[in-house]
Amino acid sequence: MSDLPPESAQLEPLIGTWKGRGHGDYPTIEPFDYLEEVSFSTIPTKPFLVYTQKTQRAETGAPLHTEAGYVRSVGPGRVELTIAQPTGIVEIHSGTIEDGVFAFVSDRVVTTPTAVDVSGCTRTLTISGDELTYVLAMEAVGEPLTKHLTARLVRS
Ligand code: HEM
Repeated sequence: MSDLPPESAQLEPLIGTWKGRGHGDYPTIEPFDYLEEVSFSTIPTKPFLVYTQKTQRAETGAPLHTEAGYVRSVGPGRVELTIAQPTGIVEIHSGTIEDGVFAFVSDRVVTTPTAVDVSGCTRTLTISGDELTYVLAMEAVGEPLTKHLTARLVRS
């Protein structure tokens, strides 16, 4: 049993610290590999998880992307996600949960005046026991929705 209220128990499979590797790509950039650490944690009685993430370049260990946000349970099989990136990108998602798959589609992606152009994003997380895999696609810099990231993490 976690600290989640009973009606939000559907978030339980995400809880923990996850570590692993990913691969990034986009039509406008050079492909890259990264190491990633993710945490989903509870605040007792609250119907959401606190999400933090940080990455490093796989070859050098240099810090790369980081982001933080919340995943909130809003009804059976229904979930919402908010994420802020330090580069001035904020994502607001609605999602579904089915058979260990958390599928998020952005309602809005908002950017600060100096941020790179991102107008849409999908994040699909699949949990199988202690393995989390995800795919992230984005609509950005004039490109249609196209894959940017894939990763495989293991719960530690
Ligand atoms: C694991 C997380 C992520 C990593 C490691 C990562 C890494 C990178 C890297 C290495 C680049 C190449 C250019 C650069 O060095 O800045 C890049 C470009 C970019 N990323 Fe990511 N990224 C991540 C997540 C995201 C997310 C969540 C978004 C938006 C929703 C995003 C949007 C972009 C955009 C718009 C570009 C620029 C494309 C261009 O200028 O042509 N990234 N990313």
